[in-house]
Amino acid sequence: MFETGSDVLAWYEKQPRALNQKFLDQIQWNEISKHPLSQDFIPVLLYMRDVESFTEIYHDELLRTPTGKDPVIRKFMERWSVEENQHAELLNRFLNEAGVPTSDNWWNEAKAAIPRRYNFENDVVMRITNCFGRYFSGAHMVWGAVNEMTTLQGYRRLWKLAGHPVLEQLLRGIAQEESLHSHFYWSIARLKLKESKFSRGLARFVIDKFWTPVGQGAKPQGETNYLISTLFEGESGISAFNRNVGERMQQLPGFAGLKTVSERVAAISLGGNAPRRLISV
Ligand SMILES: [Fe+2]
Ligand SMILES: [Fe+2]
Repeated sequence: MFETGSDVLAWYEKQPRALNQKFLDQIQWNEISKHPLSQDFIPVLLYMRDVESFTEIYHDELLRTPTGKDPVIRKFMERWSVEENQHAELLNRFLNEAGVPTSDNWWNEAKAAIPRRYNFENDVVMRITNCFGRYFSGAHMVWGAVNEMTTLQGYRRLWKLAGHPVLEQLLRGIAQEESLHSHFYWSIARLKLKESKFSRGLARFVIDKFWTPVGQGAKPQGETNYLISTLFEGESGISAFNRNVGERMQQLPGFAGLKTVSERVAAISLGGNAPRRLISV
């Protein structure tokens, strides 16, 4: 357990990149089209690619808040946003090699498709969060931790369900970085929440009332539901999510017993539109 934010940052900065040149050179891009990939996973990969690329927007938004002015978080975000952006590029390349053409301008097109309402709401939220000053950082960090843990578990589920060897190789590398992101957010969240009762109450309230799965809002709800119900399908999907995300979040100060996040994912999974023939892992 870390004592200070600087300790968390020092730990993070000591971790080498999983997606280093050696790793990238080993990816067998020309083997991708030789293995079958179910069409069911194409929308999932496109969603993940876009949401990874939106990190840049989120990064810019956060820099305008007291959270983004925290020197530890600011330093972390510089490397984090570069890594997420590379994840997006790698997923895009995988899709191309798998026979799914994408526009050269896909990033701008994905960004242009973000509803105006979402940008407006974000602006309002940012103004509200600024009123709470640094007390809101706990909520930001819990939200980030849940997003990172969801993403990590999403990639794990995807490589198990898809059974594509090159996709697995690529996603294992990406997942290593997601695991570091999760641990950073979770550890900073823990420290921020420990600081004050007000931060704990505010963070719990915000997650309980407003949490939605990563990407929802920027992407249409139907697409988020498709992703969740495909990756966390059935009882085994729901329990994997609860074990690896819901329960981990509940270990944070002030979050004991908060089941909303797992319940929201379970509701989407059970009522969802996952392709019927997928087998749970
Ligand atoms: Fe990522
Ligand atoms: Fe991440």
